[in-house]
Amino acid sequence: MLKRTTKSTVSKILSISADEEDPIAIRIEHICKWFGDLLVLKDVSLEIAKNEFVCIVGASGSGKTTLLRMLNGLAEIDVGRILVDGTEVQGPRRDMAMVFQQFDLFPWKTIDKNISFPLDLVGMDKGEIAERVKAAITLVGLDGFESKYPNQLSGGMKQRVGLARALVVRPSVLLLDEPFGAVDAQTRETLQEELLKIWSDLRQTAVFVTHSIDEAITLADRIVVMSARPGQVNGILDVDIPRPRTVESVRRDSRYPGLREQVRALIGGQEGNHE
Ligand SMILES: Nc1ncnc2c1ncn2[C@@H]1O[C@H](COP(=O)(O)OP(=O)(O)O)[C@@H](O)[C@H]1O
Ligand SMILES: [Mg+2]
Repeated sequence: MLKRTTKSTVSKILSISADEEDPIAIRIEHICKWFGDLLVLKDVSLEIAKNEFVCIVGASGSGKTTLLRMLNGLAEIDVGRILVDGTEVQGPRRDMAMVFQQFDLFPWKTIDKNISFPLDLVGMDKGEIAERVKAAITLVGLDGFESKYPNQLSGGMKQRVGLARALVVRPSVLLLDEPFGAVDAQTRETLQEELLKIWSDLRQTAVFVTHSIDEAITLADRIVVMSARPGQVNGILDVDIPRPRTVESVRRDSRYPGLREQVRALIGGQEGNHE
């Protein structure tokens, strides 16, 4: 078996260099979005700092996925604009990577080939691909599973593959759309802890959509609460729980119950508000 790549090497291979002086990674400016006559997002503005971990919570249908797709250049913006590292998003971008709830793995490709896919696609140098894939596999704890196929893996492991496939492109922004929504509660907590560790090594700007208030408090520097449709920013909360965090350390923190109540109030306070 291949030698395990050390943690510091992994971080070096997969991390991005913070070379810009602007502290803001993402500027979402007065976004509106319609699907036909349906107003889905209404005047959404948000700034996300470089290396910040932001969680977005909100009711189903409040436009969270649509917002991520607009960030990634996959959905058209009707009104407003989004700037990432100072440039306007006008189509799919290489500096962003998305992790989905449905793993979206190719069943006929081995794990390492699934992970290398975005790099193969752009014709990257084979040696560089091998190095990045190996580092990503180590980072998500899949050493030894390189030659397996997706159907030989549990849901939690498939989602690690999804995460590794996003990390190999060395995105400056990582977008995650309810990535742990399809796994059981125990696996979910394990994945949250691993993501906390990975993120503390790589420190990419992360935008993580979740239904779970607990998950948001565990992971985020800030929580953005969206209203029910049309999605608007109802409120933004700082999660001032110190890092490094574990699921356990967050639950035990004296600030945890208060934060939970605040998020709940912001979500609940808008129920029935349909303009
Ligand atoms: N491509 C599309 N065409 C038409 N309606 C859509 C499309 N994508 C999303 N919607 C609608 O927009 C609303 C917001 O969807 P979505 O962004 O998926 O919300 P969320 O992720 O918060 O659950 C929903 O009512 C959904 O049905
Ligand atoms: Mg969604």
